[in-house]
Amino acid sequence: MSRNIEIAPSVLPADFSRLGEELLDLEKVGVDRIHWDVMDGVFVPNISIGPDIIKSCRPHSSIHYEAHLMVARPDEMAPLYIDAGCETVMVHAEACTHLHRSLDNIQKLGARSGVVLNPHTPANVVTHLLEVTDHILVMTVNPGFGGQAYIPLTGKIAELKAMVDAGNHEIDIEVDGGISASTIAECAAAGANVFVSGSALFKYDDRAAGVAELKSLAEAARS
Ligand code: DX5
Ligand code: ZN
Repeated sequence: MSRNIEIAPSVLPADFSRLGEELLDLEKVGVDRIHWDVMDGVFVPNISIGPDIIKSCRPHSSIHYEAHLMVARPDEMAPLYIDAGCETVMVHAEACTHLHRSLDNIQKLGARSGVVLNPHTPANVVTHLLEVTDHILVMTVNPGFGGQAYIPLTGKIAELKAMVDAGNHEIDIEVDGGISASTIAECAAAGANVFVSGSALFKYDDRAAGVAELKSLAEAARS
C-alpha cells in the first residue's frame, strides 16, 4: 500500500520578520507539514531555529511539524523539540553514537522518530533500526543550507523502499534538498512519499499552484 504524497516546505527561505503569516500562508496553499530545519552551528556551519520559536508558532496551527535536527547533541535536543510541539523529530545517523537508543527514546516520548542519512551514508545503516523508526529522511544535498544543487540518490531511495516494504513497515521515506519540479518525479518513482521543498516552493509566484504541480508530478511518477 503506497503512502500519501506529502509536501513539506522548509521554512529556511521564509521571511522571518513575518514568520507567523508565512506559516499560515503555507498551510492555506495546501502543504502537508512544516519542515523545521534546526541547525546548531556545530554539526553544520549554520545556525537557525531554536525550540522557543517553534513553541511560539505551535498554538496558531494544527499542521504537522517535523524537526530536522542538524545538531551535534541530538539526544539532548530531541526532547526540547518534542516539547515545542513537533510530531516528528529526525536525528542524523552521523550524529548519534547509539542511534537505536536515540530513535527509541523519541518514540517513548510520544513523537514519531526519524533517521536522517547524509548523501554519503549508505541505506544499510537503517537495517536494524526499522522497528524504532517511523520516518527516513534521505538528504539529497549536504546539510547546512537551502538552495543547493540536488544530488541524485534514487538508488539509495529504492534500496530503502525495498527494505521498508520487505518488512511491511509503516515508514515514510522523505527526500530533502534541491527538490523541485525537475527532481521530484525521480525521487517519487524510486519510493519517496514526502518531499521537502524550500527554495523551489518559495520561488513560485503562486504557491498553491506550486504545491499542486509538485504533488501531481510525484503522483504521476508513482503510477
Ligand atoms: C539543508 C536542509 C534542507 C534545505 C532544503 O540542510 O535540511 O531542508 O533547507 O532547501 P532547498 O529545498 O532549497 O534545497
Ligand atoms: Zn531539512
